[in-house]
Amino acid sequence: MTKKEVKQLEVVLQPQDAHKALRKGSYQAGSVRTTAMAMDSRKTYILACRTRKERRERAFHGKPYPAISPSRPELSVKGQTVLITGGATGIGLQTSIAFAQAGAGRIVLLARSKDPMMKANETIEADYPETEVLTYAVSITDSERVTEIVKGIGTLDILVLNAAVMNAPGPVLDIDPEDTLENFKVNVLGPLSLIKAFVSLPPRSADAPRTIIYTSSAGIQFVLPGTGAYNASKSAMTYLMRCIHEEHGEAGIRSFAFHPAFAYTDGAKSLGLQPDQFDYDSTDLPAHYAVWLCSAEAEFLRGRFVWARWDVEELQAKKEVIVNDPTQLRIALVQDKLME
Ligand SMILES: NC(=O)c1ccc[n+]([C@@H]2O[C@H](COP(=O)([O-])OP(=O)(O)OC[C@H]3O[C@@H](n4cnc5c(N)ncnc54)[C@H](OP(=O)(O)O)[C@@H]3O)[C@@H](O)[C@H]2O)c1
Repeated sequence: MTKKEVKQLEVVLQPQDAHKALRKGSYQAGSVRTTAMAMDSRKTYILACRTRKERRERAFHGKPYPAISPSRPELSVKGQTVLITGGATGIGLQTSIAFAQAGAGRIVLLARSKDPMMKANETIEADYPETEVLTYAVSITDSERVTEIVKGIGTLDILVLNAAVMNAPGPVLDIDPEDTLENFKVNVLGPLSLIKAFVSLPPRSADAPRTIIYTSSAGIQFVLPGTGAYNASKSAMTYLMRCIHEEHGEAGIRSFAFHPAFAYTDGAKSLGLQPDQFDYDSTDLPAHYAVWLCSAEAEFLRGRFVWARWDVEELQAKKEVIVNDPTQLRIALVQDKLME
């Protein structure tokens, strides 16, 4: 991206106009198609607003690629049980399919609507006869029922916390506090009660890894006006994932949070986005990435926050820098040496 193009983006992407423009779909500057919406620093523009050409040069992915393919033997989850919240639509549905492709023995879908789960059940069991699909129509905010379901499953190897809401988007002070609270109930408290139930289950065997993946959002890294309540809830849970890693990592709990994609799903549709408005990522990019996070190759990212768009081989090449710095890819105050 040239300096001129960055300047054009800065003009178009003024944070104060972001919410309005998001609805109108005016985030295009010349040949630069944006893949994120609005950011408050030039550095973040460059991180998130890649042109297609730059994606190719920098291995910034918008769709799946061989290193994260669920059919790689190294990524096999053969015989394992995976619970995916919101696993019958959008990114969640592709995630369910990807785990079936990776050989999961059982996939447990948990969401409020029955019909999409029945449909996902039929499709997955027809295409992957070795995989059994169980469905539970329940809100993740019903902690009592959710705990009962998890106990009933008995053995659970992987928990993918994908379900979320962006309830009543708008400027933070204009939102009814009850609406803000709803974001926290679904995006924080729901996942927390599932994690509690998951951690209290006995592992499949003494040394069997157990993985929790929280679907977070790139929006926790910058301010996109109108999404404050949603991104505050995503930030809170991403921070809690770090805590869970510190507190339960040694007991074999592998915790990850990741930004999945900028994808055209029902959730995106409900914000008024149009299908041809942006250069969207494909929903199977985060799905395959979630399978990769369960593999030994992602071990060095435990307790951290990553983007599905980042190339896993490039990340692995930076492994030493990451593991030697406890603040890398973690929610923390950026202070550098300012106050030392
Ligand atoms: N799409 C994007 O560009 C994007 C960007 C950043 C982050 N994300 C994150 O990626 C994840 C998936 O996104 P998406 O766009 O595929 O989402 P989506 O289309 O809005 O789907 C959300 C899913 O969550 C389920 N859900 C919502 N509330 C629930 C509740 N109370 N209990 C149980 N399930 C509930 C929904 O099923 P029911 O309605 O049947 O319950 C649905 O299956 C979310 O965590 C989202 O925040 C997405």
